[in-house]
Amino acid sequence: MTLVFSQTRPFDLVELEQLLASVGWSRRPVRRVRRALDHSLLKVGLWRHDSRFPRLIGFARCTGDGILEATVWDVAVHPIYQGSGLGKKLMAYILQSLREIGVRRVTLFADPGVVSFYKAQGWILEPRGHKCAFWYAN
Ligand SMILES: CC(C)(COP(=O)(O)OP(=O)(O)OC[C@H]1O[C@@H](n2cnc3c(N)ncnc32)[C@H](O)[C@@H]1OP(=O)(O)O)[C@@H](O)C(=O)NCCC(=O)NCCS
Repeated sequence: MTLVFSQTRPFDLVELEQLLASVGWSRRPVRRVRRALDHSLLKVGLWRHDSRFPRLIGFARCTGDGILEATVWDVAVHPIYQGSGLGKKLMAYILQSLREIGVRRVTLFADPGVVSFYKAQGWILEPRGHKCAFWYAN
């Protein structure tokens, strides 16, 4: 099985939402997802490569200004492929890509069950007493 990371291969948004649904996330309106991807700094797909039927098995994206800050979102590996090091490779790929464009500080919001996944890869939890805060439009 050949696996390929790509920042340039176009996404089939239905397939992307199926991947994100497979890890238990709620579906989002496809038009809004398309716009969010268009405005993202980086979109990385992990594809099981087959020239006729490539399949999206992992995904992550980053938003940010491309200079100072980036934030990682939507990190997911399809359940069938979890536990074989792909999530770790996906994060390493993302961070290397951000390093190459010169971004020096990267943040993310970890679901409680995944905090140790990130900590084991060198992420620091709320450094210098920083707390994350959310505001929700009603
Ligand atoms: C989190 C996720 C991306 C990890 O992908 P993965 O391919 O299973 O991870 P890997 O196989 O690369 O695991 C790397 C290491 O992290 C550990 N790990 C994997 N998932 C973990 C979790 N949920 N919590 C803690 N550690 C985890 C693995 O045991 C492995 O440890 P090791 O290096 O000591 O062997 C994947 O489980 C996933 O898509 N989860 C659902 C979506 C999600 O929660 N995304 C994160 C949102 S913040």
